[in-house]
Amino acid sequence: MIKIGDYEFEVKDFDVDQVDISLDPPAEEPARQYYFIAKVRAILRERFEADVRSGAALSHYGKEKLEDMLTKKVFGTFAVVTFGCQMNEKDSEKLTAVLEQCGLEKTDSEQADLVLYNTCTVRENANQRLYGHLGYVHSLKKKNPNMIIGLCGCMMQEKHVVEKIQKSYRFVDLIFGTHNIFKLAELLSETLCKDTMEVDIWEGTDKIVEDLPAERKYPFKSGVNIMFGCNNFCSYCIVPYVRGRERSREPEEILKEIKNLASQGVIEVMLLGQNVNSYGKTLKEPMTFAELLKEAEKIDGIERIRFMTSHPKDLSDELIQVMKDSKKICRHLHLPMQSGSTRILKAMNRRYTKEQYLALAAKIKEAIPDISLTTDIIVGFPGETEEDFEDTLDVVRKVRFDSAFTFLYSKRTGTPAAAMEDQIPEDVAKARFDRLLAEVQKIAGEVCGRDVHTVQKVLAEEKDAREEGWLTGRLSNNTTVHFPGDISLIGKIVDVYLEESRGFYYTGRLKD
Ligand code: SAH
Ligand code: SF4
Ligand code: F3S
Repeated sequence: MIKIGDYEFEVKDFDVDQVDISLDPPAEEPARQYYFIAKVRAILRERFEADVRSGAALSHYGKEKLEDMLTKKVFGTFAVVTFGCQMNEKDSEKLTAVLEQCGLEKTDSEQADLVLYNTCTVRENANQRLYGHLGYVHSLKKKNPNMIIGLCGCMMQEKHVVEKIQKSYRFVDLIFGTHNIFKLAELLSETLCKDTMEVDIWEGTDKIVEDLPAERKYPFKSGVNIMFGCNNFCSYCIVPYVRGRERSREPEEILKEIKNLASQGVIEVMLLGQNVNSYGKTLKEPMTFAELLKEAEKIDGIERIRFMTSHPKDLSDELIQVMKDSKKICRHLHLPMQSGSTRILKAMNRRYTKEQYLALAAKIKEAIPDISLTTDIIVGFPGETEEDFEDTLDVVRKVRFDSAFTFLYSKRTGTPAAAMEDQIPEDVAKARFDRLLAEVQKIAGEVCGRDVHTVQKVLAEEKDAREEGWLTGRLSNNTTVHFPGDISLIGKIVDVYLEESRGFYYTGRLKD
């Protein structure tokens, strides 16, 4: 039970109108944030009603939109623009839920009353994309001065970025980081009541705030955070600096969330963490990731379980066994190798060798022959020689990945690799990148089609983007399938005959 004054409620029953905002805000979380949701909502409503009376709302939204808003009882619009990985996607769902409860309506366009950018800084091009968007949104704000622009996420945990925004992007209203995203409602209430930029960045945290509102992009599948942060400090990577130390959620909280999702019709969960294989080490009563999976597997209604990401150094035999025995854990393992050269892996601080990676991949394939292995590879890490790169190609040829994300090494300020001598010239790295990509694609094209002419279980996920009357879905091993089907099948697992392999995806038809 959550308590604000005399009002006590469960998350799912929260009624914002029951909150007495004349009281002082509660000190404890999450009650405090529910209080601020009610407060922000009251401020937005008052402003919106004044604009309706003065006619400003009519000229701003137009007749049709305004009538729609009055019917829906919303007081403005918002967009959350997300960059980066699944953790950020998940965070954006949480931000979206809070903004909706504050009385704002979600739109996909940045022409909204509030735009929040959830940023990523894993590679330099992620940063560049944000600055591109900021230029655009600035032009929108010139036409709509009441617009609120917020920035949050990984990039905001970097001091030099925040300094740059404060100096050169003064039209931004709100900046917060990765450790305090649960505070969105409170920060918004501050922002709405002042004219200067609100900046709240925490250096780190050991706290996990549970039971905040949550929203889902898909009704039938959902990401579930099982841990936050990362302790690995791979020498190229900024994530441990911007996401803080590794913290695992209590298993009871995770399982409660999954049960709750199942009761709402979710059939697939994706367990999320930067290194799920080290789940549970920091708990008061330690638990392994494999044990957590076994518990999740018992939950009725959940039919598919996925997880991201596995660090090869922590992948246990216990996990392989649990995957092998499981009916629900998907036949897919994303196992980032980063490089095939033992020398480079050492400089990357990955803590495994080329031979260990190959042995691990072989062991997994032997135990679970139908598994699909995918990976991440960085090209052009400082000091990478032609010989090191050949080692990477060698592993790619030996493991035969179903797919691989290939990245050009990007120098991140503050990481050990950024200070290393012998940074690789761009043209050399780019040439290697192209060779690697060609190899990866050639192999993926050969491997991905192995289930052609068989009937497989497919989770129908959405309308096909290209073919009218078709659906797009996924196999357990994560390969995409396109097939003719009615939209009523979306969210269901159906039997599909895989007629043709087109390299990275199949086309098929429903089994009669
Ligand atoms: N926690 C995950 C990875 C998160 S970042 C893991 O360890 O597997 C996702 C991917 O981005 C990484 O696997 C890596 O391949 C890539 N990456 C991270 N930092 C990078 C950098 N500085 N330059 C290029 N690619 C990078
Ligand atoms: Fe970055 Fe390595 Fe942590 Fe992955 S495991 S987030 S690559 S430091
Ligand atoms: Fe990017 Fe942060 Fe994820 S830096 S990749 S959004 S953890």
